Amino acid sequence: MNTLKRKTALKLAALVSELYPGASLSAEELAGMLEFPPDPAMGDLALPCFKLSRSLHASPVQIADALAPKMTGDEIARAEAVKGYLNLFIDGAAFSARVLSEIAEKGDEYGSPADGKGKTVVLDYSSPNVAKPFHIGHLGTTVIGHSLKLLHEFAGCKCVGINHLGDWGTQFGKLIVAYRKWGSREAVERGEIDELVKLYVRFHTEAEKDPTLDDAARAEFTKLEHGDVENTELWRWFIEISLREYKKTYRLLGIEFDSYNGESFYTDKMPEQVELLKKKGLLSLDDGASVVRLDEYNMPVCLILKRDGSTLYPTRDIAAAVYRARTYHFDKCIYVTSAGQSLHFAQWFKVVELMGYDWYDKLVHVPYGTVSINGEKLATRTGNVVLLKDLFADAIEKVKRISAEKNGGTPCSDEIAEAVGVGAVVFHYLSNNRMRDINFVLEDALSFDGNTGPYAQYTYARTCSVLAKAGNRGSFTGGKLNDAEILLAKTLSTFPDRVKTALDGYEPSEITRFILDLCAAYNRFYHDCPIVTSDDEREKNNRVSLTAAVNTVLGTALRLICLKTPEKI
Ligand code: ARG
Repeated sequence: MNTLKRKTALKLAALVSELYPGASLSAEELAGMLEFPPDPAMGDLALPCFKLSRSLHASPVQIADALAPKMTGDEIARAEAVKGYLNLFIDGAAFSARVLSEIAEKGDEYGSPADGKGKTVVLDYSSPNVAKPFHIGHLGTTVIGHSLKLLHEFAGCKCVGINHLGDWGTQFGKLIVAYRKWGSREAVERGEIDELVKLYVRFHTEAEKDPTLDDAARAEFTKLEHGDVENTELWRWFIEISLREYKKTYRLLGIEFDSYNGESFYTDKMPEQVELLKKKGLLSLDDGASVVRLDEYNMPVCLILKRDGSTLYPTRDIAAAVYRARTYHFDKCIYVTSAGQSLHFAQWFKVVELMGYDWYDKLVHVPYGTVSINGEKLATRTGNVVLLKDLFADAIEKVKRISAEKNGGTPCSDEIAEAVGVGAVVFHYLSNNRMRDINFVLEDALSFDGNTGPYAQYTYARTCSVLAKAGNRGSFTGGKLNDAEILLAKTLSTFPDRVKTALDGYEPSEITRFILDLCAAYNRFYHDCPIVTSDDEREKNNRVSLTAAVNTVLGTALRLICLKTPEKI
């Protein structure tokens, strides 16, 4: 928690029990009531005393009046009672000194809630469907998922990142048919995943004219299910080709998975669960299919077995969850998918509960909204999609062009173009609450002027260059501070709370917004205050140390949302 809040709450708790014997309010309760006023004229921290009226049997005005005279000292310079509000004003120097020493001491750990030690968190994210395009719709699961992994690791949890590849299902039957009819080994080796997607798309166009193709695809998939050697070999190869491509995208994002156990991995693990469902009397027949009825919970039936006995998406998810519970003994298992799958998760989470697994309440679904690009929605079957790799390639290309324009013809290095281009896309995506539907416009994402990734990375690089000029990280010795300096220290001090909010709400955009607040505060400070050029030694030292703190915290925050932090741009 924010230290100022915690310290103030402790002081308030002591005061309350002194002034109102008999009443007791814990520091924790009081911390929950403290607010950061939006208008600095109302203080740096405020307590709306109406929240205490009931327990203290006094009016808000009386409470505020009683507390105000006793609040000053330590980091609080002034306390005012205004209409039932207790408004607290910090002593900028004392406050900044404490925040900066905390940051210097904790370094990259500053902001960590440090409550994850000993906990294991499994995260299931990205999980594209092999042979179908890995498109911009997967951006959400990939970057929200990875950022949540980084946030949990930051909190000290042991994390297991799982790519639950869609590597099983009738699409393989379609692909096998399409490959034999229109494909060739050379074309696939050369064209890689694009060629597979082309075949997949062609299958759908042709099947519209000739429905027997669908029957042929089903037959090929059944053969695959029964272990047909040739089909199995093709299937393995399709996966290998696809993975090769995905891994390029993951490398750009700095993502590595701990496991690529996809849907096919659970084939032999489903019968045990189906047996248990039967034994518990949970299965009923619905038009020949085996389902779990969920009317009582206001949900449609959860499909377990098709009429022909084959398993379904929920069956595989149930088997996978059991496997993960046994293998990892997780404290939490998080699934990141589009909101379109919310019902699916609610259904099978309920089924797992009904099956009697006591870890059912450790399963968490994290949904997100839809993405369109330049106003257009996606359609996989028609091939009208923007592939993730193309989006990144496009962004990287544009960064090169822009940097060449700025540098009299010489573009930046590939490494920087990648960090900035990919970072721009990710930052733009993570700027909004995850449930919001977003329209992606690459030009906006890449702008150096707006609230963008390049702007944030540029601010980080600016801190690096100031520190390089200073030749040290400064040391804060207090004295009189101006508004820009105090605002900067205040913004830095909110980081631990923002991390907590991001974790509690599974909302990486909280970190993105923090980054923008911090960049705004730093850039204002940078423009208002001479740093290394200041001729007052103490002032210079203070400002260099503020810059060092921003460097540390901004670096941590950027990395938490999967951005790289080049020292020069
Ligand atoms: N492959 C699925 C898709 O692209 C997402 C899988 C999500 N994870 C899971 N365990 N169901 O829609």
